[in-house]
Amino acid sequence: MAARLIITGFMGSGKTSVARELAASLGWRFCDADAEAEKRMGMSIAEAFDRLGEAGFREVEVETVGSLLDETAGSVDNTVVALGGGAVTSKAVRERLAAEPLVLYLDVDVDTAFARAADGTRPLARDREQFGRLYEQRQGLYREVATRVVDSRGMDIGELVQRISKIIEEGGA
Ligand code: S3P
Repeated sequence: MAARLIITGFMGSGKTSVARELAASLGWRFCDADAEAEKRMGMSIAEAFDRLGEAGFREVEVETVGSLLDETAGSVDNTVVALGGGAVTSKAVRERLAAEPLVLYLDVDVDTAFARAADGTRPLARDREQFGRLYEQRQGLYREVATRVVDSRGMDIGELVQRISKIIEEGGA
């Protein structure tokens, strides 16, 4: 059976960059749930928040994550899936993740996360206080779904890729 690693974590934790590099280094397929949701909606996430509201975006996100997991489960390719930072706020996503053997929480400190995430593209990374509140609120959710936690503090992408490759080699969770 093909292996699958799912990476979760807050905005700006480096999920997408790490997942992409890791997939390239292992020769695995890389899937990004945010990019898939944008494709499905035919608009950017920022636009979706404006037009559908956050609740509307979350509905699409739940469907997207569900289809991605269904599709990659039947695939012969090993896959790394990067989730959007708020996917874990949906119960349906958390229930899907509960059946996954390898869900990695990429932990990051809030200041580093904000410095990376506040690039204007993320509707929930515009206000530093709101960002900090969300960061606190979500810690429990990431830990609930994760089978492994990797602290990214002080590590660059190459080091994270090495660390996560080792976790996979050792059999994951
Ligand atoms: C969000 C995180 C974003 C994106 C959207 C909402 C969140 O993904 O899905 O802007 O609620 O944390 P990244 O974590 O990839 O930035």
